[in-house]
Amino acid sequence: MTSQELRQLFITYFKKNGHRLIPSSSLIPENDPSVLFTTAGMQQFKPYYLSLKDPFKDNHLSLGEPLKSRNIITCQKCFRTTDINEVGDRSHLTFFEMLGNFSFGGYFKKEAIQLMFDFLFKELEIDEQRASFTFFSGNNNIPSDEESYQILKSLSIPEEKIKQGKEDNFWGPTGMIGPCGPTVEVYVDGIELWNLVFNEYYFNEKKEYQPLKQKGVDTGMGLERLTLITQFPQDETKTIFDTDLFAPLMDYLFQFLPQDQEGLKTARIFADHIKSIVFLLSEGILPSNTDRGYVVRRLIRRIARFLEKYQLAKEMIFNLVDLVVAMYSLEYPEIDKKEEIKKVLLDELLKFEKTLARGLKIFEELIETKEKENQKIITGLEAFNLYQSYGFPLELIKEMAQEKSFSVNEEDFQKEITHHQEISRAGKEKKFGGHGLKGLITTPEQEKMVKLHTSAHLLLAALKKIVDPDIQQKGSDINSERLRFDFSLDRKLTDKEIKEIEKLINQKIQEGLEVNYYETSYEDAIKRGAEGVFKERYPEKVKVYVIKDKEGEIFSQEICAGPHVKNTREIGKFKILKQESVSSGVKRIKAVIEDN
Ligand code: SER
Repeated sequence: MTSQELRQLFITYFKKNGHRLIPSSSLIPENDPSVLFTTAGMQQFKPYYLSLKDPFKDNHLSLGEPLKSRNIITCQKCFRTTDINEVGDRSHLTFFEMLGNFSFGGYFKKEAIQLMFDFLFKELEIDEQRASFTFFSGNNNIPSDEESYQILKSLSIPEEKIKQGKEDNFWGPTGMIGPCGPTVEVYVDGIELWNLVFNEYYFNEKKEYQPLKQKGVDTGMGLERLTLITQFPQDETKTIFDTDLFAPLMDYLFQFLPQDQEGLKTARIFADHIKSIVFLLSEGILPSNTDRGYVVRRLIRRIARFLEKYQLAKEMIFNLVDLVVAMYSLEYPEIDKKEEIKKVLLDELLKFEKTLARGLKIFEELIETKEKENQKIITGLEAFNLYQSYGFPLELIKEMAQEKSFSVNEEDFQKEITHHQEISRAGKEKKFGGHGLKGLITTPEQEKMVKLHTSAHLLLAALKKIVDPDIQQKGSDINSERLRFDFSLDRKLTDKEIKEIEKLINQKIQEGLEVNYYETSYEDAIKRGAEGVFKERYPEKVKVYVIKDKEGEIFSQEICAGPHVKNTREIGKFKILKQESVSSGVKRIKAVIEDN
């Protein structure tokens, strides 16, 4: 059976059982600013699980009309970086297609498990003997999913084939908040094939599990894995790369790569990455040093290094692009942009070519010296130098190290990044009056956190200007996805105030104001009117970050260790997601930033 037939069988089977087929959503999540990519089929349906949208009344975001059904199926294109280090084994990929059936109030555990069972073992006639199942056995917060266990048993599945699971059998949320719940996982030939999620909870900002009003079903089955177990039953020697979803790419690559272990691994990573690159570029994502752009850049640079290692002509990549487009353009017509994709790829490869050659030379010399000294570890600083001076992404350095039986001190590498960010900023600001970080590549997560950090300063200033000059910051928490900001106020902000605050902050961002700092004693800083909260924690000399407006008036002045953006324009677009009450005198704002 071909992968195309399997896709179709899934669709036909679930349509017959009362589901509506909805097109795959974009790889850039449309209603979920907290995640970079679409990693699961359920993302486009989040509002339905949360009862924020009615499937019969409200328009679906990209469909432009209501879903008109509580039971939905999709074949969703997905991209995940979480498994990037596993790519090359039997079953992990960065780009994959997920077949999924979803229900928001149409059916729940019993029907979902039955549908799964009938599709696999009756419709596809997979031998039940090959399958095993896991269910959620409970933890401190959530009880064991006895119901699913009983349903599985009622299908005459032998008890020894139903195992208890903990972490892996609880799914979600995507991002920080959202629907989540216990899962039943289906394994065939030892491969995790299908994940049935029963969304019963909402994980909120306070990190609590609230029962959902509307319980829902969210299932996902990797098409590549389904194809593997169907095309090569009970054959452990075969991998997803042997299926028809990869064969054309692998056959082509093997015209150029050696058939040994290393060549095989390279071909697999190459094939996986080129698919991801084609799909990501087709969505208009361009290689850059931040967010999604940096992810694409990393994938392309890994391929650039394969080209160099095996002395392959760039043109071969273009043939691979043609192959990917030919394989997928029927299902995903949006990728039919061969020429644009090739142009971006070529530009990016050319950009990297020179530094790659120089970096590789440096790397070889480094290895040689270390081998003489009997060392097998690349230090954080050495890795950082390759990263900063030659633009080598960490996984590329790791891969090259591995090939030489070296390892990389990743923890120190991350420390170096943080350290150098600060030094670079401080040094350059002293010399040039506020031009820091140029040429230094940071991870998207770190950059986002720095932006959110500066946003927190703007937020406090805006609260004081618009609401009450006596407002004090009561705490803040920043991760790579959002800012949580607590402040003193004995009432809730009105919607109008929130809008005005957001507007003022975005205005200051657009004005492109410089962010500078000076150093002085804590007492002097306070005298000069700087904000400061926890006095006892400050060292003798403190840094005071200042943002002046266009007229030269101080807009924000805070004692803070940094780091911050050098110009407010870097922040992008500031958006307040919600306000909450922490206690009667303390309110909380949750905010995110979006790229402009
Ligand atoms: N959301 C679940 C997953 O991604 C099931 O679709 O595995």
